[in-house]
Amino acid sequence: MMKSGSSDVCEIILDNPPVNALGLPVRRYIIAAIEAAEADPAIRCIIIRGGGGLFTAGADIAEFRTDQMQILWLPDLVDRIEACSKPVIAAIWGNCLGGGMEMVLACHFRIADTSARFALPEVKIGILPGAGGTQRLPRLVDPAVALELMISGRTIDALRAHEIGLVDRIVDGDLVAEAFKIASADRLPPIRRTGSIPPPVNLPEAVAETRASLRKGGLSASPERIVECVAAIEADFAPGRAVEKRLFAELMDSQAARGLQHAFFGERKVARIPGIGADIRPRSIKTVGIVGGGLMGTGIAIALLNAGLDVIVVETRGDARDKARDTVGRTILRDVEKRRVSQSEADARLAALTLAPSLEALADVDLVIEAVFEDLAVKKEIFTTLDSIVRFDAILASNTSTLDLDAIAAFTSDPSRVVGLHFFSPANIMRLLEVVRGGRTAPDVLATAMVFARRIGKVGVVSGVCDGFIGNRMFEEYLRQAYFLLEEGALPQQIDQAMEAWGVAMGPLRVLDLAGQDIGWAIRKRRAVEQPDRPYSGIVDRICEMGRFGQKVGKGIYDYADGRTAVPDPEIERLFAGYSAEIGLERRSISDAEIVEHCLLALINEGARIVGEGIAYRPVDVDMIYLNGYGFARERGGPMFQADEQGLATVLEKIRILAAGRNGWAWEPAALLVEFAAQGKRLADLNI
Ligand code: CAA
Repeated sequence: MMKSGSSDVCEIILDNPPVNALGLPVRRYIIAAIEAAEADPAIRCIIIRGGGGLFTAGADIAEFRTDQMQILWLPDLVDRIEACSKPVIAAIWGNCLGGGMEMVLACHFRIADTSARFALPEVKIGILPGAGGTQRLPRLVDPAVALELMISGRTIDALRAHEIGLVDRIVDGDLVAEAFKIASADRLPPIRRTGSIPPPVNLPEAVAETRASLRKGGLSASPERIVECVAAIEADFAPGRAVEKRLFAELMDSQAARGLQHAFFGERKVARIPGIGADIRPRSIKTVGIVGGGLMGTGIAIALLNAGLDVIVVETRGDARDKARDTVGRTILRDVEKRRVSQSEADARLAALTLAPSLEALADVDLVIEAVFEDLAVKKEIFTTLDSIVRFDAILASNTSTLDLDAIAAFTSDPSRVVGLHFFSPANIMRLLEVVRGGRTAPDVLATAMVFARRIGKVGVVSGVCDGFIGNRMFEEYLRQAYFLLEEGALPQQIDQAMEAWGVAMGPLRVLDLAGQDIGWAIRKRRAVEQPDRPYSGIVDRICEMGRFGQKVGKGIYDYADGRTAVPDPEIERLFAGYSAEIGLERRSISDAEIVEHCLLALINEGARIVGEGIAYRPVDVDMIYLNGYGFARERGGPMFQADEQGLATVLEKIRILAAGRNGWAWEPAALLVEFAAQGKRLADLNI
């Protein structure tokens, strides 16, 4: 839509809710409007602004790698704006991101009100500012500042944008009126083309310094490529622009970019629950009760207080109550010291916390989260009592990670109001919240849990009820393979390093040491009774028998002489060698690639089983659990994404080879993989 606010001004309004993404129809509209305005002798000046309170979130990410993207390519449109023979003014409020900011760089004059926020976040989706951004920003602002903005992808506000020279004028009032005032003045802003500004003299120095500071060996090449583009800036715009075009295309095709973009859309997709539409109204949550003031309870309390909720923690023991208050207080104080929150904000958060000795204090809360010891008898007592105390419309949640949620719900008179909220430790830090849908959980209770997850800054993902839910059930198969690899010849540090180099935050054996070897041991003992036909390697049990329960006791699979650093222990290597000999296995040399393959295929196979059983709604739900709760690198997209990247036929072939080998019983292929591979489908076809 082109509007002429006054007869000699052309106003171009970006109007493509919800974020005014620069998809093809928008690009067509802009170019048509620019060309018409240029051709119309009555028009003296052009204003570009966004509708709906924001400028634009940039290129339409859903168009990436489609033919649409190539039609009226965004960088060409941006160049066309810069080349316009009439002054083009950008009037910016709200978000001005990515390709939108690149468009603004090509305008001849830039004004913004104080709501404006600028970023080039392309690095976060594995690409680079490919619409001339790498060439224009370092010409307009200090190149070191430009590089930092592009490599971090961070957002700056209007005042900072003005300070660095990105914005010419800050408007403290009506942005549109001011834009028209400038556009209608006798003296129009001069046509200054950013692409024609000579390269700054300190450009080589900024490039060298940035290059030296880059973290080596990242999974995404975006930061290095951004520096290369900036290094290619010459007096003439064209050569640098050609480098940018080439490197942009290279990155766009990379697995890291596809993985990061899968993560971007995935985190939004998991919030949508099939079958729950807009007609289901979530309940309002303002006050939350937490039962249990231990490590988990206090972590949850901090997360909720930080989100502005009122919290009542019930802890029966007085000393534990004091400790809980102390832990919450210290954590919030640390945020003040680190300048993440102001003192007054911290005071308000602490004032919103109540500690109480009994469940009676929860009579009027909107939601209760039980976070006590994993014992069904204890949970029974709590849920039966809560049932008679809380309001009839309050939601009852359990943080259980191992028990049957439906059994817990059955302790209440109304199982439809019971849901699982499985937080990950430390609960105030980890982004994942597994929302467990019981057999009778009401749709509005589930919808409320998902809104609540977002409200407290978590990625909520729904799981059906099964042992371990989605995340831990898959992790068990992953660990099973890691143990088998240990007994066959791999050393712990080799397994951990191979997985960490591939893309997990912490290798599986270090995770075990951190979580406590005794916890894993207890699960293996339980499994030996429940699933005698699915035996574990006994190799790690030997460590537990020695009392090496992990980091908390200074020794586990690794040695922690300083209490923190995992140091390989020769005693353990001897122990493992002895174990292999005892079970008649000749230790062999195992490559990193084989380690990664076994561990990843175990996750893929179990994940596909979980999707096939309907425990996860879609493969993407599994992926978002692994990215947000299990340290899977975002660039890797998640186990289900990885299966599609390899191709399901290839994955199945590899699984079948393993199924024919030692411990082949653990490799029965998931029915979904077999079905989809036969039909030539991708798991992503299920990501509705
Ligand atoms: N392209 C396509 N869709 C987008 C989008 C984009 N750039 N940005 C947001 N959306 C979609 C989201 O997927 C979401 O869709 P659904 O409602 O269907 O799930 C919807 O818009 C609303 O987004 P959010 O839920 O994220 O809303 P929010 O208010 O929490 O956040 C935002 C808004 C800050 C703009 C955030 O969406 C965001 O950061 N977007 C991405 C910005 C970005 O990376 N831009 C750079 C793109 S690359 C580029 O422009 C340069 C280039 O050279 C090619």
